[in-house]
This record gives sequence, C-alpha cells and structure tokens, in this order.
Amino acid sequence: MNVLIVLAGFLAIGAAVGPATSKVVCYYNSKSYVREFEGCIYPAQARMLPLDLDPALSFCTHLVYGYAGIQPDTYKMVSLNENLDVDRSHANYRAITNFKTKYPGLKVLLSVGGDADTESPEKYNLLLESPQARTAFVNSGVLLAEQHGFDGIDLAWQFARIKPKKIRSTWGSIWHGIKKTFGTTPVDDKESEHREGFTALVREMKQALSVKPNMQLAISVLPNVNSSIYYDVPAIINLVDMVNLGAYDFQTPERNPKEADYATPLYTPQNRNPLLNADAVVTYWLQGGAPAQKLVLAIPTAARTWKLDSDSEIAGVPPLHADGPGEAGPYTKIEGILSYPEVCGKLINPNHQKGMLPHLRKVTDPSKRFEKGLTKDQDLTPHFGTYAFRLPDDSGEGGLWVTYEDPDTAGQRAAYVKAKNLGGVSIVDLSMDDFRGLCTGDKYPILRAAKYRL
Ligand SMILES: *[C@@H]1O[C@H](CO)[C@@H](O)[C@H](O)[C@H]1NC(C)=O
Repeated sequence: MNVLIVLAGFLAIGAAVGPATSKVVCYYNSKSYVREFEGCIYPAQARMLPLDLDPALSFCTHLVYGYAGIQPDTYKMVSLNENLDVDRSHANYRAITNFKTKYPGLKVLLSVGGDADTESPEKYNLLLESPQARTAFVNSGVLLAEQHGFDGIDLAWQFARIKPKKIRSTWGSIWHGIKKTFGTTPVDDKESEHREGFTALVREMKQALSVKPNMQLAISVLPNVNSSIYYDVPAIINLVDMVNLGAYDFQTPERNPKEADYATPLYTPQNRNPLLNADAVVTYWLQGGAPAQKLVLAIPTAARTWKLDSDSEIAGVPPLHADGPGEAGPYTKIEGILSYPEVCGKLINPNHQKGMLPHLRKVTDPSKRFEKGLTKDQDLTPHFGTYAFRLPDDSGEGGLWVTYEDPDTAGQRAAYVKAKNLGGVSIVDLSMDDFRGLCTGDKYPILRAAKYRL
C-alpha cells in the first residue's frame, strides 16, 4: 500500500492517477544490453543496463524480462545467454528480480520465446505435440523462475504467423472477398493440434505454478499470430493472470517490403483488412469470454521504417510504394527499426540537436472517428498512428517513411484501454523508449504518457 501512496504522489504532478488496478506491464528485452554502437552523437547511450530501468519502475506494475528460450533436444526452458543472465559476472536475472526490494509491489516475470529464440524454431510446435516435452519444459521453467526470484512465467509462444498480403491488390475487393483474400496461413498444417497442445501446456504450467507461493502465469500473444487459430480463450482464460495482446507490427518492412503502411493501427484504416488492427484483436478475446480486466494491450516503442524511392507517391499518405527496410539507426543498428529517441532526433524541430539532417516531416493522424459509447473526451484520435517522412531528393539523400507511436498516440491507446475497461497496457519494450530523456529531457516519455491516461 505504501508503494501506491508514494506512486500516487509521484504521478500527481500534472496528471490524474488511474485506478490502482490498472496494469502497466513493462517489457525489458535483454538484447538491448549487448547493443553495439559506434560513431554516434551520444556514444554509450545505445546500451541499456538494468540500472537504466530504475526511472521506469515507479510507473510499472509488472516487469517482464525477455527472453528465455527452449533447448532443442531436451525441451527445457533455459536462458538464451547464460553469461548475461545467470553467470556471476552479470547475473541479470538477479539484478532484475532484486528491483523488488526497492519496488515491493512490482511483479517480475520471466518470458520465454518472444521471437528471440531463433535456433530450430520448429521446436515450439514439436513441444506442443509431445506430453513428455511439455513436462520437461514446465518443470525446468518453474525451477528456473523460482531459482532466480521471479514471480512467474510469461509464455510468448512463437506460433506461425499470418501470411503477409499485398495491401493494394485487395482494394475494391475487400468487401466481397474477405475469406478468399485473407484465408488462413498455410504455414502450419497442424493448427488444431497445436491449439490443443498449447491449451494443455497452459493447464500444466498453471498446475505446476499453483503449488508455489504467489507465482503468476501470463501469456503474450506475439504480433501477427492469429489468436483465433491458437488461443482457445474459454479453455485457457481462467488459468492465466493476464494476457498481453501484442497487437502491433501488423505491417512491417520485413513482411511488406514494397508497401509502407501504418504498423500499429488501433482501428481499421480505409480499405484495409478489418482484422489487422488492435481493436480486432481485443474484440476476438472479449468475444471469447475473456474478462476485460485480464487483457493488456501492447504499446510498441520501436518505429518501423521503409525506404522511399522515386516511385513512391509524393504525398506520403499510406499505403505507399516503398523500397524495403529503411537504414539502421545509429544506436539500435537494426534495418527497418528506429527507437523512439532515434525518431525524435530526426523530426523537424528548431529546438532539437543539429547533426541528424535531413529531417523528417511529421504527420499526425487526421482521422476523427467517434466510437459508439465513448464521450468526446475519450475519443481516440489518432486511430492509426503517427507517421513521418522525407522524399528522396536530388542530392542523393534517401527517402524514408516512418510509422511509430509517440507519447500522444501511446496516450490514445491507454485511453482506449480505459474506455474498454481492459486490465492495462504493456510497453514493448523499455529499451526502445527514450530511456535517457534525449527527446525532451523526460525519461521514458511513452511509458509516462500511457500511464497518465489510464
Ligand atoms: C485468423 O483465422 C481465422 C480462422 O480461424 C480466419 O477467419 C481469419 O481470417 C484469420 N485472420 C487473419 C488476419 O488472417
């Protein structure tokens, strides 16, 4: 209780405090710890250490440490980087769970999967098909979590993905051909077996955790996993403490290299597949009978970027022709991705640091759609997200198109969560938010903006 009072006092500056029950689930992807950097304006600022989490944790109710993996031969749940996670030199697992001393209300979960586990990816399906493999996984996972002081396990299962579709080829045909155009993915030909296997896994994991004191079980639905194929909501919802809906990255430069579009729309932009937006994912779970309070909606902090070329429409309005992933950012060094501070550093703003020219022009979502049952105050503009771009120019500077969440749109997603009475939001992940306060001086602006609107 003391924590809540302190937290309330801390947040009272400039914003209303949400109900104490709203969850703010903060993901920390440990890959950011080993991020490389060179020759950028802020050297050493690329790398995020457990210590850098501290300013975030007064806003977080849960900290999810990503990601553990599965050993292919034994199906045991294991650290993917023992040197970083468990060896004495770094011992990140302990460093993370030790934050509970300072933040006693914080729940720290160990997440498994999350697309970080790339070796023999078929093991995620094979494990679900074998009761013995599931047992090995459950027993080792509970032990791993318990040994390092975690409060539970999050299953971020690496299921097959929805097959990407061309956006434009569907224009005009969408209303009379949804089934035909967006049939289920052919990638997994044992869908129903895997659905049943996952339900069994959740049941077995719950059973193993429930004999331990205060151990939680969570599920993270990864982006572009079709919930209606793999998640039997009525069968699993009572077994889990929360479900994090990774309803983002519907369009990415990897999935759709030739078409740039909003990555994370809250609602359906015009002439798009009506299932590829956050509201559609939330609706599936609610219609399956999930109590709204168990659902947590993800807010992604990483921007998605595409190169524009001379064939790209000059208005910049999505969807538009693109030429593959945009170049890597100076800190994060991943093609097609920029962290929030990398985006804000590129925006046109006379107060910002020079040296990252040429700038991007930001376009705030102009749509104004009032949802039934919401007051004007709760209206959710922008619904699709913010984008920013520059066209290729004669000097040979490349064009770039960027779709991202900023503090405004993060606040809109939180307002949606509040309006729908959902359990809370998750920030995926903290290392892509502005954890050093480079944009405006405030650390973790996306996390803060979301928290203030809950
Ligand atoms: C998800 O699967 C269902 C069938 O279970 C299908 O009707 C739907 O179109 C799929 N969603 C997407 C976005 O492909």
